[in-house]
Amino acid sequence: MERVTLRIRRYNPDDDNGAYWQEYSVDIEPGDVVLQALMRVREDLDGTLAFRASCRSGICGSDGMVINGWPRLACKTQVSDVASKSGMIQLEPLYNLACLKDLVVDQEPFWTQFSRITPWLMPDPAVPEPEKERLMVLEPDAFDLLSKASDCIFCQICFAACPIVGLDRDFLGPQALVKAYRFEADPRDQGHQTREAVLGAPEGVWRCRTTFNCTEACPKGIPITRTIQLLKRALVREAIFS
Ligand code: FES
Repeated sequence: MERVTLRIRRYNPDDDNGAYWQEYSVDIEPGDVVLQALMRVREDLDGTLAFRASCRSGICGSDGMVINGWPRLACKTQVSDVASKSGMIQLEPLYNLACLKDLVVDQEPFWTQFSRITPWLMPDPAVPEPEKERLMVLEPDAFDLLSKASDCIFCQICFAACPIVGLDRDFLGPQALVKAYRFEADPRDQGHQTREAVLGAPEGVWRCRTTFNCTEACPKGIPITRTIQLLKRALVREAIFS
């Protein structure tokens, strides 16, 4: 068993002193992830520490936080991968979202941008409802990318990693755009006309500056930047050939 120090940015809206750093020393077993260390702090040392977590296995997307300056899922981050030589790990709430308390952020801006892209499948209303599921036909590579885009767990890590989101609160952001790709690339979807204006607006796909931060940070390995570039290409093609 080893000990590590968690240096956590604390904030309590009921406390007039503002944000501050607090350190906790905890025991770590081999193979422990950061979330386990955090739970040990809350159970054994300080019950007032606030953070979100649920599935503990990279599915629910609720425990995104900034670990040593980079957004990650606490349940998918090995302590041994991020602890410094002196055993220090620094934790902050996700960037680009207001802190509500300690490591808990206000998710409202993220969900607002997501809702703007009409995030559901819109089949052709002229085609009668099928008796079984709606089958899709796609080339294997195109299906693989669509399938990856469907893996999003809404963890908000790409939103926190994107420098453009931090500069422009109107930007749709990487998650809304990868979800738009998921439906736009689906041959069963006929919703393009509904999404076209928001995707093609200055704060839509064109605001992306291809920093690749979203792709690098995504805990599900989704090539987000590539899907945004494909949305841009589709809009340009449409403008040229229409
Ligand atoms: S607790 Fe669900 S993704 Fe980490």
